[in-house]
Amino acid sequence: MRVLALLDGTLADPDAPLIRVDDFGLMRGDGVFETILVVDGKPRELGPHLDRLARSAAMLDLPEPDRAAFEHAVDLVLANWTGGAEIALKLVYTRGVEGGDGTPTGFALAMDISPKVMAQRAEGIAAVTLDRGIEPGLMDRAPWLLLGAKSLSYAMNMAAIREAERRGAAEVVFTTSSGSVLEGPTSTLIMARGRTLTTPPAELGILPGTTQAALFRAAGREGWTVEVRPIPVEELYSADGVFLVSSVRKITRVHTLDGKTLPDSAELHAEVADLYESEY
Ligand SMILES: Cc1ncc(COP(=O)(O)O)c(C=O)c1O
Repeated sequence: MRVLALLDGTLADPDAPLIRVDDFGLMRGDGVFETILVVDGKPRELGPHLDRLARSAAMLDLPEPDRAAFEHAVDLVLANWTGGAEIALKLVYTRGVEGGDGTPTGFALAMDISPKVMAQRAEGIAAVTLDRGIEPGLMDRAPWLLLGAKSLSYAMNMAAIREAERRGAAEVVFTTSSGSVLEGPTSTLIMARGRTLTTPPAELGILPGTTQAALFRAAGREGWTVEVRPIPVEELYSADGVFLVSSVRKITRVHTLDGKTLPDSAELHAEVADLYESEY
């Protein structure tokens, strides 16, 4: 099932043609987006997602997104959802049409969560490390690369997942050229050792994750140690748990990395997943 609302506060048919062919979002991937998990009608981390949408838009020099209009579009799609208890809710915001008056295109689209994601949540995944070709400092040195913005230009991210599939895995852990862990193409990496959770710094040029932030909040409250520091890729092999986390996949366990089986983290995964759920 899908429900679509436009930024002007109207519902639209998600099966009908709607976006103009000269929309910059379509022509150049020139826009930003968010994907939000909704459970039992309640969007998780809506505020942080809207904050990040605004930050990404600013990085692309887009007009500031109308927060109230997006909130209204979210309310509208959720009020009209008659499907299952969990929803993937996408917010999209583009530079609008070529030669137009500069009005951005924006919408909120609610969708079912794919069976593939549901299976990965339960069973865990094999991942491969892939070089992302970025080095510390690049984010500040070359802001036009939009490192850390959630832009619509995700073709590279999708190509990396296809490369993982060619190598017999489902997911990717991007690294710097010198082997420091970055993130997944659509997820944040979290490593666990005992009751310490570690994630790489956003300053390396990765997207600050709302799921990671929520999990670290819960972990801090429950007396776990949380740290943000560079993680050499070798550390992942001896960790008690390696997780790829994002809004819709939640906390997904990596059981195999570059063909090597990682220490069994099934129990720890259950504990970390419970921690995350305790936020809601
Ligand atoms: C590149 C990248 N990193 C991290 C994440 C995780 O972000 P969040 O937890 O806010 O969904 C995403 C989400 O899709 C992403 O695309």
